[in-house]
Amino acid sequence: MKAAVIEQQGGVENIAYRDWDDPEPGEHDVIVSVRACGLNHLDIFVRRGMPGFPVPMPFISGGDISGVVEKTGPAVSGWSEGDRVTLNPQTDEGMIGEELLGGLAEKVRVPAKNLVALPDHVSFETAAAVPINYGTAHRMLFTRGRLEAGETMLVLGASGGVGLACVQFGQMVGATVIAAAGSDDKCSRLSDMGADHVINYQSEDFSRAAWIASGKKGCDVVVNFTGGETWAPSFRAAKKRGRVLTCGATAGHDPQTDLRYLWVRELDVLGSNSYSQEDVVRSVEYVADGQLSPVVSHTFPLENLAEAETLMEDRGFFGKIVLQP
Ligand SMILES: NC(=O)c1ccc[n+]([C@@H]2O[C@H](COP(=O)([O-])OP(=O)(O)OC[C@H]3O[C@@H](n4cnc5c(N)ncnc54)[C@H](OP(=O)(O)O)[C@@H]3O)[C@@H](O)[C@H]2O)c1
Repeated sequence: MKAAVIEQQGGVENIAYRDWDDPEPGEHDVIVSVRACGLNHLDIFVRRGMPGFPVPMPFISGGDISGVVEKTGPAVSGWSEGDRVTLNPQTDEGMIGEELLGGLAEKVRVPAKNLVALPDHVSFETAAAVPINYGTAHRMLFTRGRLEAGETMLVLGASGGVGLACVQFGQMVGATVIAAAGSDDKCSRLSDMGADHVINYQSEDFSRAAWIASGKKGCDVVVNFTGGETWAPSFRAAKKRGRVLTCGATAGHDPQTDLRYLWVRELDVLGSNSYSQEDVVRSVEYVADGQLSPVVSHTFPLENLAEAETLMEDRGFFGKIVLQP
């Protein structure tokens, strides 16, 4: 098969589109013929290298996969050749695209228990925008963050994969959503999609703008997976006994904290990691019944992965970038 292979960790020049041995299914596995694979910031971290997360090289990343069952292992039941699927990349053996070979290839091996049936009316491109972004947001907002109707939520990085999923889940449950992003163009797209307030944090002090947008009461929930210089000001945007949620640190994992806000406002800082099969299944159902509408701003042929990853690093996309083998 063909695959977009990371030959060694570093810049995009280390990605090669080349031949790779076809995967074979284990007893309980299927081989999925990949139709689309969504890009995540995780793919950038896997290619660049993350301290404490060694990745065997050469490697194929990509965990947001949709496609068609091509082969089934001898012990697999309930799935047949030709079934349309997406999947939960978090397997018992490790994460597909981070620890196991991923879907930025023509084929990928997947434990059958991780498959999720894909209805005919959901396109492969749309499906490749769902599992990681919406699964992560579902767990972070509801299991960890206990977001409820009528609450006010600030989302930083609202134009990206997890961010847009948080915005849409917030709208779905009847929260007031303040969406913060890095350009006027992204803010106007978020506004068009129904965000109640938008903030361009490149030109505005987002914590002050969010405080004002919340009627000077502060936000019940602040979603910050950006970290870096955005971390300390996030506490200023939260109301007394508000919740600050994090699942990542795109701009730096070692930010300054102003502890005074934590005790004076009695804030809860809640970490969230990963997602369950149930988070992915529920997300796919919400997409299938029209309650969520993932946005794919760019699609590329798989051989152009380096170009696609550069676009993600330059923050030139909205929602999701999808690769097609
Ligand atoms: N723990 C978990 O299970 C889990 C799961 C999924 C994702 N994550 C983490 O969540 C974060 C978001 O992931 P994602 O895939 O949604 O990323 P993404 O699609 O690239 O979106 C990130 C957004 O953050 C904003 N941003 C602000 N500062 C940035 C910077 N210095 N560099 C890049 N983007 C910056 C960008 O929007 P603007 O240009 O509008 O500012 C960008 O669109 C990542 O840190 C990822 O590792 C964690």
